[in-house]
Amino acid sequence: MKLDIVTIFPEYFAPLDVSLLGKARRAGLLDVRVHDLRQWTHDRHRTVDDTPYGGGPGMVMKPEPWGEALDAIAPPGGPVPRLIVPTPSGRPFTQATAVELAEEDWLVFACGRYEGIDARVVDEARTRMPVDEVSLGDFVLAGGEVAVLAIVEAVGRLLPGVLGNADSVADDSFAPGAMESLLEGPVYTKPPVWRGRAVPEILLSGNHGAIARWRRDQALRRTVRNRPELAARLDPATLDAQDRRV
Ligand code: ADE
Repeated sequence: MKLDIVTIFPEYFAPLDVSLLGKARRAGLLDVRVHDLRQWTHDRHRTVDDTPYGGGPGMVMKPEPWGEALDAIAPPGGPVPRLIVPTPSGRPFTQATAVELAEEDWLVFACGRYEGIDARVVDEARTRMPVDEVSLGDFVLAGGEVAVLAIVEAVGRLLPGVLGNADSVADDSFAPGAMESLLEGPVYTKPPVWRGRAVPEILLSGNHGAIARWRRDQALRRTVRNRPELAARLDPATLDAQDRRV
């Protein structure tokens, strides 16, 4: 998968050399290019922002550098990427979004700063490529960079060959399938007793059916406690069907 990231802070993306994604890059599974938006400015101060029309606080990112950046990265008439613009005003980014994006060959990310990017940039981009404005949640970051890191990690770990064990993706909280809409329950490793706390005995029983039922019960409890709104949406028929399976 090819990723182009446009930002005024390329340094933010150093973590993409580390751990799982760093390994995926070195293995050639992820081709990431980070571009400094200021290379598409032409004034002495390399200006990327200006005051908002209509007044109001803060600054708005100017359309010209963004237009040039998108034309340079995805020349009109050539192959078409999907453009992702993180913004608190976007549609919620969920595991389903990550799964959908993991199917794409080429993603371009536009990291906004300040009060956002002049709206004409997205309007124009939509005439020649699919565009998703996505939000990581109901909070405001200082810019899109940290959101892009999160999205790239969520998408990257779904790509074939990136995770050692494909099963760990199937078990994720929010993963489509068996545990749909349940949060993951608690996990344990050795030693069997730590600071007087024993690992739940059932996990040492070797009874795989009983273990699967216990795990689902724990997942359900955690969902009710931490995400009551998710628990309320659970379909009793689906849960019953899963009970019969495990
Ligand atoms: N940029 C600033 N805040 C954001 C958020 N909550 N999600 C995505 N991008 C953002």
